[in-house]
Formats: sequence, structure tokens, C-alpha cells
Amino acid sequence: MSDFLYLQLEREFSEAIEQGRWGAGERLPSVRTLCRERQLSKATVLHAYNRMEARGLIEARAKAGYFVRGQLDSRPPPAAGNPDSVPALVSVSDVMRDIMTQSAAFDILPSADQRAETPPGVIELNRSIARALRHQRGLQHQYYDAPTGTPALREQLARRYQRLGCALAADDLNITAGCQQALFLALMACCKPGDVVAVESPGFYGVLQLAESLGLQVLEIPAAADSGLNMDSLAEALKSWPVRACVVTPAFATPSGSLMPQAARSRLLALAEQHDFVVIEDDIYGDLAFDQRPPPLKALDHSGRVILCGSVSKSLSRDLRLGWIAAGPWQTQVNRLKLVNMLACSRFIQRGLSDFIGDGGYDRHLRRQRSLLADQRDQLAELLDRDWPFPVRFSLPAGGLTLWLELPEAVDTLNCYRRARDHGLIITPGALFTGQKRYQHCLRLSFAHPWNEPRRQAVTLLGELLAEG
Ligand SMILES: Cc1ncc(COP(=O)(O)O)c(C=O)c1O
Repeated sequence: MSDFLYLQLEREFSEAIEQGRWGAGERLPSVRTLCRERQLSKATVLHAYNRMEARGLIEARAKAGYFVRGQLDSRPPPAAGNPDSVPALVSVSDVMRDIMTQSAAFDILPSADQRAETPPGVIELNRSIARALRHQRGLQHQYYDAPTGTPALREQLARRYQRLGCALAADDLNITAGCQQALFLALMACCKPGDVVAVESPGFYGVLQLAESLGLQVLEIPAAADSGLNMDSLAEALKSWPVRACVVTPAFATPSGSLMPQAARSRLLALAEQHDFVVIEDDIYGDLAFDQRPPPLKALDHSGRVILCGSVSKSLSRDLRLGWIAAGPWQTQVNRLKLVNMLACSRFIQRGLSDFIGDGGYDRHLRRQRSLLADQRDQLAELLDRDWPFPVRFSLPAGGLTLWLELPEAVDTLNCYRRARDHGLIITPGALFTGQKRYQHCLRLSFAHPWNEPRRQAVTLLGELLAEG
């Protein structure tokens, strides 16, 4: 057999767990025993165990070994989105805008981390930026950076995407002030007011805000926690409406956390070709896969239909305000829009990020971050199962930052938002993720932050507040 030894071991043990031969709580053979009995290296066994841990099959307990995890994944996912797939202008209310502003940090208890330690990756990043600033000489501060962004950073990003199968060179990228600006430039470049834009429902509220301010009609297409945008629904809607662009987050979409299957990705691109629309890919969560980083949709794009947008906001730092866009045939237009929109991004911050990536700091940070997030996801899931006073269905994504919860129909999460705020809790009600009157009994909860005692108590208290209706 040509498989790597760690893959053989992973497959054998995964099957034993999935077929129920090893039950929840059962202890797996120790690393030392496996090395001795199967003549394997410690690295091989640990690699297999780490991968199974990232998939949520097993858990490591300090000083006790590896154990089969309770099968959280076997739960039924929340229901898929059920919007009216009819184009309409959206109007985001002031209340929603306030909630969006409050919830952008994804933290249920913003007061919980006043004394938290800076993560090692961020310390390293800050050093790179400080070094880049120290190296700024003479009158460099008097000049703007290239409007498309610092070449060294574009080079680093292009190389990362090339490794994922995307035919992108440095000149195909433009550095932006985050992914939100990249999405804005993408929509500006390929749409005009009144055009129809298909989006996931439930889907990212930032896109609804952009559509509102650009006068675009939003066509909500159902999305499900286990498979993302529903391709049959999109194909059906395309028969009736002239869609100009489709904004999609194939990897770990917010709020549902869905990962779009391969077949759906190919079908989306075929539909784009057939109906002549642009696919705007939001790849902001791609680097936060707990297991293998999925290639972007862009990797399948052979006819220049996909505009790729991303940023390091979720994977590294929201405060850098650095993202990018690769717009293919629309790149010249995007470059022009970026220039009139903001001239340039800060050069020393781009330089610092580029050095950080080049020195391997970003990959080291991602390795730590992914395992932390997988653990935080499980802790949140266990908390919901154990401490909430009513049963709740939720997604269990293999990456990203959020769970999508479906609560009993009687619960109104928007109503609860205000009560939660009185207790210092910030939640993201389901109503935020649509331009229609839907998902009132749904909620996005984030596991982006460590579960210290105050946050654990906040989730428990939230369960009590929601139980009040
Ligand atoms: C799906 C998605 N896209 C884009 C953004 C905006 O990202 P940035 O902070 O890089 O502008 C967010 C932030 O919440 C997001 O969740």
C-alpha cells in the first residue's frame, strides 16, 4: 500500500470509532505502546492522533492519554436557510447596524480578556512590524506605497495561493484594507445599481450592508450548515432572475460554518459559465481549517469568473486591516477603484506582515490557532449540551469561528439581544444574517476566544436568558 503510515493508522482507528467498535470515553493505545508494537515512529503516531483530534474524533487529556470523544458530530444539523428567493433591495435598520458594530469582535463577553496574554504569534508579528518601521529611512514616510500594495507581500500571498492550486502571480493581487473592502471593490467593479446579486441565506451581514449601499438587489439562496449554498435552489432561481454576481464563502461560511463540497463547487462554476455571472469568493476563513486547508474555489477557475477576496483579520489580527483581492479580468478596474478610494495601504505594516509570513511565523501561528479553535469549538458545544436548559441544534464546523444554533421556535433572539446587553453579553441574533424576516429563533455563537470562567458563565447565563423567551 502506498499510503503514508500515519494515514493508515488514522484510517484504521477512525473506522473503529465511526463503526462504534470503540465507544465514547474509551482510551486509545498510548503513543509509546503503538510505537513499540507496530514499529512506528513517535512522529507518525502523533501525526495520526493530531489529525483525528482536529477532526473531533478523539481528545487528548493532560497526563492521561487520548480518548474517544462523545460523538457530537452525529447530531442533526440545524435546518437549512429558507428565504424567499426573489430579488429585493435590502434595508439594514439602525438596530441591526448597532448590533453589527457590537458583534464584529465575535466575543460574547468583551470585558473578559482585560488581562489576557498576547499570543506568541502576535508577539512575533508585532516584532516584524516594529522592525519594518525601524527600517523606514529618510523621507520614505512622505511617499505613498504602490497603489496595488507592497510587492513583497503580494509575492508571499501569491506563493501561498499557488501552493493551493491557484494560478496567481503577485501582479494579480491588490492589497486592501481588509476583506470587507475587497468585497466592496469586487461588487463595485462588476455590478451597477439595480443588478441582482445572489448570496447565501443565512449569510454574512457585511455583504447585505454593501448591497444596500451600492443599490444592488439581493437574491437570497438557501444555505445549509453541512453543505453551504444549495445548488439546486440557485439553478432554479437562475431560470427566473438575471444574476450578475454570486457572493459565496466556500470555506467555513459565517454563520453556518459550512464547507462547500467539491461537486457543489464545480457546479457553481458551471452555472456561472452558463448564466454569465461573476463568483465573488470570500476566502477569509480558509486558513482556519482544523484539518487540511481546503483549496479556494479560485483553484478550479479556468475562465476567470472568480474574484478572490481574503484577509488576515480572522486568522491573525483584525487590527492590521490588511486583506487582498484577485479580480482576474476586473483587476484593472479594481486597481483604479482602490486608488481613488484610499490611495494606498501603510507600507511598513505590509512589510511587517510579509516578513512574518516569509519567516514562517504565520504558519506557526496557524498551527497553534487551529488546534486552539478546534478545542474551543468542542468546549462550547459541550457547554451547550450540558448547561443549557433546553435542547438546541447546532452546526459543528470543521473550521472557522462560529456555531449556528437553531433554538425552539418560541425563542426570539433579537429580543434577547437587548436583555443580554444589560448583562454585558453581546450576541449575534439570527435576524442579522438575512434581509428578510427570518431566523428569529436562530443565533450565531463564536468560539473565537478562549473559554475562561467568565465566558463559560456568560454562555450559561445566555441559556437562561433565552429560556425566558
Ligand atoms: C465572511 C466575512 N467576510 C468579510 C469580513 C470582513 O473582514 P475584514 O475584517 O478583513 O474586513 C468578515 C468579518 O466579520 C466576515 O465574517
